[in-house]
Amino acid sequence: MGASRSTTGPFAVKDHSRLIADTEAGAEEGGLKRAVGALDLTALGIGAVIGTGIFVVIGEGIGLAGPAVILSFVLAAVTCVFSALCYAELASSIPVSGSAYTYAYATLGELVAWIIGWDLILEYGVAVAAVAVGWGGNLNEFLDNTFGFALPESIANPPEEGGTVNLPAVVIVACVTFLLVRGVRETAKANFFMVIFKLLILAFFIVVAFATAFSADNLSPFAPEGVNGVVSAAAVIFFAYIGFDAVSTGAEEARQPRRDLPIAIIGSLIICTIVYILVSIAAVGSLDAKALQESEAPLAAALDEGAGISWGASIVALGALVAITSVLLTIFYGQTRIFFAMARDGLMPRNIAKVNPRTGTPAKLTIGLGVFIAALAAFVPLSEIVQLVNIGTLFAFLLVNIGVVILRITHPDMERPFRVPLAWPVPIFPLIGVGLIIYLMQELPAATWWRFGIWLAIGIAFYFLYGRRHSVLQREHRS
Ligand code: ALA
Repeated sequence: MGASRSTTGPFAVKDHSRLIADTEAGAEEGGLKRAVGALDLTALGIGAVIGTGIFVVIGEGIGLAGPAVILSFVLAAVTCVFSALCYAELASSIPVSGSAYTYAYATLGELVAWIIGWDLILEYGVAVAAVAVGWGGNLNEFLDNTFGFALPESIANPPEEGGTVNLPAVVIVACVTFLLVRGVRETAKANFFMVIFKLLILAFFIVVAFATAFSADNLSPFAPEGVNGVVSAAAVIFFAYIGFDAVSTGAEEARQPRRDLPIAIIGSLIICTIVYILVSIAAVGSLDAKALQESEAPLAAALDEGAGISWGASIVALGALVAITSVLLTIFYGQTRIFFAMARDGLMPRNIAKVNPRTGTPAKLTIGLGVFIAALAAFVPLSEIVQLVNIGTLFAFLLVNIGVVILRITHPDMERPFRVPLAWPVPIFPLIGVGLIIYLMQELPAATWWRFGIWLAIGIAFYFLYGRRHSVLQREHRS
């Protein structure tokens, strides 16, 4: 027990050196394959980030802030920067699967770790289902734009939205599950191509929009709802940035995690921020805010209605499909690795975390999750849960920022290949990060807070009924 702190019960902390040692032992007994480098990890981050947010949710942001949505993108990015620095520090110091869940285990104890792991199901698992539904919607948009036909309502929508089942969402989840079971190298390769493709499409959008349709008239009135509008839109647009932290879930498959994880986390956030700011300027400059806000595919509408280039709209719609596929792939990947870590610690049934010796991936877990996500995406209209995903993610970020401060105090000598700059006498950036996160969280509606509270209550009940009794750490304390 030497490496764990003496606390027992729900607040038992798993020492960071113990976490790393367990992982190394696991790797020798047939753990995950160390197969990816810095470039792949950065592509993993960009893959997880650029998708529904910039192609679809931007319309909602414009509805709240008007053309000043550009500033909302900046505000959301600033909020993320502090968290990205914290993720980079923790990922380089504790390069273990499980991301925020694992960091909390090493800092705030088992119960908080479990709560974060449970919370991350909102950020990852539920987000995948929502994004899959968005994929289905975009498929119809693309087919309609390009070939003039769309799938019948009954097989393209869930029951509450006039259909029977959302078949495209199920099919895409099945394809992504298959790729993830095949292996991490195959996944990384497919993701890499999709990332290049979506960056090229967005570059095309920016160039065409600026060259043919940009007009300063569209920018006025710039901020019809003032500062409030900008902040409310930032709380929604935050969705567009979710995913850079997925890089940290790949820690056990990285060849040089201590060096490459910080590069990939911060690098992918910087690249995505630049892309988002340029795209949002191009979009709001090309078409008036009202038309953008009313469209289901605002970027395609900016080219179609703003620039009068309908073939350009088809290209953008195809870009959206590919972009969203890579979000699905990478966020789903992140969810499997978080569950993997939780099951390995005994907080979820341990046998689901077995790595298939042939593929080197947790196949059983991936297929089980695929079935769950596909069922959710098939029958539930998930378009409104973006805010639930946001609150879940902001909460995880909050605890990661706090975790950095706690670990600096409790383990000042821990090896930290990357450190959040400016510690005076405690790190200042995580504290600013905490303030900004709370600021955005309180912008979210009361209904979102209620749903979030209920979700957490179910998770806490599960912990006391199952996790606490089966936890590997607790068992060691008892024996
Ligand atoms: N950031 C991801 C997206 O925009 C979740 O789809």
